[in-house]
Amino acid sequence: MSSFEVVIYEKQDGIAYITLNRPQALNAYNIKMRDELYEVLGAVRDDSEVEVVILKGAGEKAFCAGADLTEFLTAPSPIIARKARFERDVWGRLLSVEQPVIAAVHGYVLGSGIEMSLCCDLRLASEDARFGLPEQGLGIIPAAGGSQTLPRTIGQAAALEMLLSGRWIDAKEALRLKLVNRVVPRADLLSEAEKLVRKILSYDRMAVRYAKQAVRRGLDLPLAKGLALEARLGKQLMAAEDKE
Ligand code: COA
Repeated sequence: MSSFEVVIYEKQDGIAYITLNRPQALNAYNIKMRDELYEVLGAVRDDSEVEVVILKGAGEKAFCAGADLTEFLTAPSPIIARKARFERDVWGRLLSVEQPVIAAVHGYVLGSGIEMSLCCDLRLASEDARFGLPEQGLGIIPAAGGSQTLPRTIGQAAALEMLLSGRWIDAKEALRLKLVNRVVPRADLLSEAEKLVRKILSYDRMAVRYAKQAVRRGLDLPLAKGLALEARLGKQLMAAEDKE
């Protein structure tokens, strides 16, 4: 169990549980959360005991209602508030985690909330989840990768509609758009995520990491290079297994 203020970090049987923990503010992402997440993700990435990560939100109402608006309002300007967020590349760090990361989201999944989940490998949503990007209404654009990760996940047309019109979607539509892998009853969200995790844990840890890497890195490459990457990773994996 961790001693952080706005993030809970727990580790059990190869699973790292990271919980956004500001339920009174719908787990809004503030600078403290940025700093703690940065630290936790670094620890997780370098911890050989951690094989899979589950990211979730505390409380009944939200996974995360986006950036903390009170920080936007108290900072000298939204630009300065935003600059502070760029100082630590939390999203780059989340994407650099070699272990599979599963987001288990419920309630409000807004702004940085949806963007954080998009940096994860799999997304499980409960039936009450609602997704949206309120940035347009605040005169800003996403700052946690959303303008890049959302179209790569749900396609350009649907992403642009969410980005430009600020339209929110429910869990059913999120599933139809392939924003989430699965929708489950609220009460089963964590157990379903754990069921999925246990399946992943039953496989060879290197094979799991290499498969993630092949997909993640390969998607940024032309097909021929992606195929070469797959062949290289396959050979490396076999060589590592031979050694063992
Ligand atoms: N930043 C800071 N505090 C937030 C927050 C945010 N993004 N979202 C919610 N909160 C706080 C509220 O101020 C409220 O605090 P209070 O109880 O001290 O007044 C508490 O969380 C509960 O939120 P509330 O608005 O009462 O809940 P609701 O169910 O009526 O509405 C939302 C939920 C998500 C529709 C509404 O809170 C909202 O629009 N939040 C802002 C979303 C946003 O624009 N995020 C920024 C994206 S860049």
